[in-house]
Amino acid sequence: MALDRPSVPNDLSAFWMPFTANRQFKKAPRMFVSAKDMHYRTADGREVLDGTAGLWCCNAGHSRPKIVEAIRAQAGELDYAPAFQMGHPKAFELANRLRDLAPDPMEHVFFTNSGSESVETALKIAIAYHRAKGEGQRTRLVGRERGYHGVNFGGISVGGIVNNRKFFGALLNGVDHLPHTHDLSRNAFSRGQPEHGAELADELERIAQLHGPETIAAVIVEPMAGSTGVLMPPKGYLQRLRDLCNRHGILLIFDEVITGFGRLGSSFAAEHFGVMPDLITCAKGLTNGVIPMGAVLCTSEIHDAFMHGPEHLIELFHGYTYSGNPIAAATGLATLETYAEEGLFQRAADLAGYWEDAVHSLRDCPHVIDLRNMGLIAGIELEPIAGAPTKRAFQAFLDCYERGVLIRTTGDIIALSPPLIIEKAHIDHLFSVLRDVLQNLD
Ligand SMILES: Cc1ncc(COP(=O)(O)O)c(C=O)c1O
Repeated sequence: MALDRPSVPNDLSAFWMPFTANRQFKKAPRMFVSAKDMHYRTADGREVLDGTAGLWCCNAGHSRPKIVEAIRAQAGELDYAPAFQMGHPKAFELANRLRDLAPDPMEHVFFTNSGSESVETALKIAIAYHRAKGEGQRTRLVGRERGYHGVNFGGISVGGIVNNRKFFGALLNGVDHLPHTHDLSRNAFSRGQPEHGAELADELERIAQLHGPETIAAVIVEPMAGSTGVLMPPKGYLQRLRDLCNRHGILLIFDEVITGFGRLGSSFAAEHFGVMPDLITCAKGLTNGVIPMGAVLCTSEIHDAFMHGPEHLIELFHGYTYSGNPIAAATGLATLETYAEEGLFQRAADLAGYWEDAVHSLRDCPHVIDLRNMGLIAGIELEPIAGAPTKRAFQAFLDCYERGVLIRTTGDIIALSPPLIIEKAHIDHLFSVLRDVLQNLD
């Protein structure tokens, strides 16, 4: 091995890798050892173009100087402060910046360490809010088929990805699911929001009438469903959900773990679609994926409902040892500054048209049954191999990696979500490799 190449471990057995085909991986490991801007470097010294912003999180690209420096400085200044009954300035500063960045009604911020924890926190706040208002009977939750809300019990209960649910028992009770909105027969090859499917939101009315609307605490959806394979909301769908929630006093939660921080060309999808939820969950891009951190944003109406009773008493019995951790907070501040200084959300909006054309240029490729896009995100759906679902897309992933491009696949769908610093030349390269790979797939 060349001296300038970092060594890699030769015993891979102890680490049980998450959401990974462990046996396949360990036979032919794919190891990244460094990263800069748009590229990873592999253990065998190759550059790989990042077509997925890590896992939808490194929106400013990799090893960005301001973020790296903030982490170094914070580690040397204040490494940890107790999260309960004590504070430190940067957590408050980051909460204020997030409030300023978020759509107007979002006034308060609860810090977590991941998207999954943000979801659990939002669901708990929603139920506790109704109780604080004297509506303790509102305990039911509504999610959506194909929804991804992380991997904790609340999140998989409201989530709708079958493999994430079926191995883990009975889950939370009192949960219903809206139908998913994916409809290839009517919407295949849509650019941006599909035309058809707004009426699917009306299923909420049916669920409300089934149980009694006064029993439902909250509806949670991803405004654009990422992990299930990039499903855009049909035109009018989110507004219809909002209207029904208003009619029945149900809270609307937007899970913006992927859509937050510029992915669609605006700070949050709520702003992009012009529909305001009552709570927003976020994580990932909050710290550019560099240090684990998530957050729940909520309205004053929700927050203030808890601020009653004797002032020495804790108002919400919930929190994490690392809520607002100093290094995470410093990373978040440096990340938001980087986004602002480089105008990255606007950059995503400006590049969206070029990106869209590149995505739809794959229409004549073999196996492609749908292409969809919005902002700097895309879904490329492949016809599954009969009797071997996921195999074709996984092979595309392996082939792209061999050719120096990182994509992500879920089922037989390829998902792309590059860092927002991507250049047109990178987009060209990404799609020419993809075209080549698709043309040579079985
Ligand atoms: C919409 C959504 N919610 C929640 C999560 C879970 O986030 P984490 O993996 O940080 O727990 C994800 C992760 O992809 C997500 O896309």
